[in-house]
Amino acid sequence: SDPKIGIYGLGTMGAALALNMADKGIAIAASNRTASVIPEFMERAGDLAENITAVDDLKALIDALPKPRNLLAMIPSTGPMDAFLDDVIPMLEAGDTVIDAGNADFHSTRARAARLAEHDLHFVGLGVSGGEEGARHGPSMMMGGTDHSWSELKPVLEKIAAKFDGAPCVDHLGPDGAGHFVKTVHNGIEYADMQVIAETYDILRNGLGMDLPAVADQFDAWNDGPLGSYLMEITAKVLRYDDPETGKPAVDVIRDSAGQKGTGRWTVIEAVKLGQSATMIEAAVAGRAWSAEKPLRELAAKAFGEDRGALDLDVTTIEAALRVARVLEYAQGFRILKAASDEYDWNLDPARIAEIWRAGCIIRAKMLDDISAAFRDGAPEGQLLLASAFRDTIQDGIPALRQVVGTAVAAGLPVPALASALAWYDTMRQSRGTANVVQAQRDFFGRHGFERLDAEGAHHGPWWD
Ligand code: 6PG
Repeated sequence: SDPKIGIYGLGTMGAALALNMADKGIAIAASNRTASVIPEFMERAGDLAENITAVDDLKALIDALPKPRNLLAMIPSTGPMDAFLDDVIPMLEAGDTVIDAGNADFHSTRARAARLAEHDLHFVGLGVSGGEEGARHGPSMMMGGTDHSWSELKPVLEKIAAKFDGAPCVDHLGPDGAGHFVKTVHNGIEYADMQVIAETYDILRNGLGMDLPAVADQFDAWNDGPLGSYLMEITAKVLRYDDPETGKPAVDVIRDSAGQKGTGRWTVIEAVKLGQSATMIEAAVAGRAWSAEKPLRELAAKAFGEDRGALDLDVTTIEAALRVARVLEYAQGFRILKAASDEYDWNLDPARIAEIWRAGCIIRAKMLDDISAAFRDGAPEGQLLLASAFRDTIQDGIPALRQVVGTAVAAGLPVPALASALAWYDTMRQSRGTANVVQAQRDFFGRHGFERLDAEGAHHGPWWD
């Protein structure tokens, strides 16, 4: 049968998506910029090759597709994507759709959608989460684009998506850059969750003195309860591996400098541009940046010493602290989504987003089912922090979080993400904060003016009389 979709780019993720489609009985056409990888890909496809039309170049790929064409590009979403569009636009015809399934900056996606619209072409920004395994067997997908493209792609995407209770984890979330934006914030939450788990590892292993197998067991036990999540599960797994060369635990031979490709940083940048601040994601991005400064940390360790006190905490307190931290990290992520949705008129549905994150993606967690229910019930102001479903978790968890952060801080064990969660919560529950002082300072040095509690309009302080 005619290929339903073309895949251009057979690297790790592109090949996995192509094989997923072929596996689900979807006829596809596939190609790659460097044609030499194609035979190897077809060999790997095995029996699935019968659903794949492999061609040597972009022109042949376009020619293999029925009209209107749907062409998914899995190539770097930066310069190579623009160069690809330069090549492909003249080959396409009105009504065709190009899909960018990489992690793109949503501003680029918006610009590319506008560029293609000038040619009556459609551009889809498709956020795909779940790593290679997800792409191969069922990712969570966040689609931004036109209704036309969604009606074209829906049957394919719903077939290849992860399923939660049978429901596909994919939806059309909004126009142009909406899907890539939601994917970016997904990754921001991913960063925060990873950082919180890493801080907890430090607390358990170095603060409480547990050995690695015991830490892994603890993560497994939490994973079986309300804290169940993919990241908790894989962390337990990772801690059990030994390095084949040295026989030491794998985590003990890995250099403590984290990489980052940009999505966490973009989340922070966009949040700040929208007048928001997601402190837990900021702490996670900062944590990775600080980790990369290993030479500086080695000097500072010599200069100031790296002694840390032992922690006196029980694991049930830590579990309660982690539960509230996770609520707060999602609350911060969904605040950014709401702010962007208002700014760009996307009409994002937070309940739906939480639903499609319940399976397939990296931040899949048991709690997401409760989060989608909380949004469906109408969280006040669209804020998870105020949702009645999480009131008890927050109220019961905060004393635990306070104890964990306080104990860690007193012992000199850094917990930037956990501490920033608490600082955010404590700030938000003060109806009267301290920005009055900042306003007074601004007016004093720069005549910036301030509002009064008891009168409208701009005012100046007595220092200007
Ligand atoms: C996912 C992941 C995926 C990728 C991140 C990692 O949802 O499948 O988030 O997109 O692994 O880009 O990002 P860093 O390299 O920045 O940690």
